[in-house]
Amino acid sequence: AEPGAELQVALVPSYACQRHTPLLHHNTVLTDALSILAENAELTDNEGRGVAFRRAAALLKSLPHEIRGMEQLKGLPCLGDHCLRVIKEVLEDGTCSEVETTRQSGQFTALKALTGIFGVGAKTADRWFREGIHTPSDLQRSGHTLNRAQQAGLQYYDDLNRPVTKAEADAIGRIVERAVSEVLPGAEITLIGGFRRGKNTGHDVDFLITHPDEGKEEGLMVKVVSWLEAQDFLLYQKTTRNSYLESKDGPARPPSNMDRFERCFSIFRLSTHNGVRMTETDPHSHFSVHPHDSHPTPQTCRTVDVLSREDSSEIGQPQSSHSQSWRAVRVDLVVSPYSQFSFALLGWTGSKLFERELRRWAVHEKAMTLSSHTLYDSKQRQYLRANSEEEIFALLGLEYVPPCGRNA
Ligand code: CTP
Ligand code: MN
Ligand code: MN
Ligand code: MN
Repeated sequence: AEPGAELQVALVPSYACQRHTPLLHHNTVLTDALSILAENAELTDNEGRGVAFRRAAALLKSLPHEIRGMEQLKGLPCLGDHCLRVIKEVLEDGTCSEVETTRQSGQFTALKALTGIFGVGAKTADRWFREGIHTPSDLQRSGHTLNRAQQAGLQYYDDLNRPVTKAEADAIGRIVERAVSEVLPGAEITLIGGFRRGKNTGHDVDFLITHPDEGKEEGLMVKVVSWLEAQDFLLYQKTTRNSYLESKDGPARPPSNMDRFERCFSIFRLSTHNGVRMTETDPHSHFSVHPHDSHPTPQTCRTVDVLSREDSSEIGQPQSSHSQSWRAVRVDLVVSPYSQFSFALLGWTGSKLFERELRRWAVHEKAMTLSSHTLYDSKQRQYLRANSEEEIFALLGLEYVPPCGRNA
């Protein structure tokens, strides 16, 4: 081995929030294998194991080189015996038997297909699997009573399982921006989630909405949703008020201005304008560039084809009737008071593992509680203010990691 290589390895820190994790990295063969095991653990109620596999995968994603032999792993954190066994097998044989068995297992395939239905979680999928329901078609034939989300999930199954492109995300952004500016001039919207981290595709599109005059954002979601519904943009929506108070991960008694946190899970009806070219550039558009956001994604001028596609309706749903004119897209909207914007931005940019690691770091290394609303210092017994993500990282004693480095 090269002199110094081991020293370098020994310096890799153990929390994902202490590292930069790019979208594209050098160890996809290994991380794909570990991700299958993580996914399987999550689908079978083994959250702890799932997190262990995810942490190991995230560690490998952050390395600046390809791992070719076990000796290169010496001194690296996050790699338990099980992970090391998997990595060793993949390095030696090209595949790992446990991974391949899992990938091909009827249970894994069925649970993936069923949780691929919007509104269906791992527990429900597992219950149905035990009843012999293995596919969305099985579910449809079963005559089970489904809630509104699950009905929509079945109805738009194909569309919702087709990745959303950046062009489609931008088109949704323009619609949301129009809605927001119609109902509350001066409100600001920011693209969050995977697209803010630089992903080219996503399973949904996430937006954070706020207004510089604190209080003006109150009740905004209901108005935005009404406008969108009146314009026939929504196929499904569920608006939740006050989700903060229902969550269990914040300090016990939040300040009163937190009661205003609103979010909306929705399914948009996005016109695909088959064959029509759509221009992304809008000189008045400020979406994804928020004054607080010192690392905005540059909005480049380009022209994009917004898809023509084959209709591939697997379950014979009414998809064929509109196959070329529009598609269904999952969209998450969150409204945050201006004073909590940075916390909401940090909390909703992800990745899920990066968020989990930030909170774990805060609690275990700093005796602080981080949420999408606040940072609470248990020693000082007070909430700490921050006006940017950079300030939050600094308060946590961490070097700043930009969104594109949070792909853990
Ligand atoms: N999130 C959350 N509460 C939820 C769901 C999501 O706080 N009930 C947060 C996640 O922690 C993540 C962000 O919202 O930081 C985006 O979540 P999601 O859209 O599920 O994932 P993405 O990272 O955007 O990936 P994808 O491209 O697949 O959508
Ligand atoms: Mn997302
Ligand atoms: Mn469709
Ligand atoms: Mn989302």
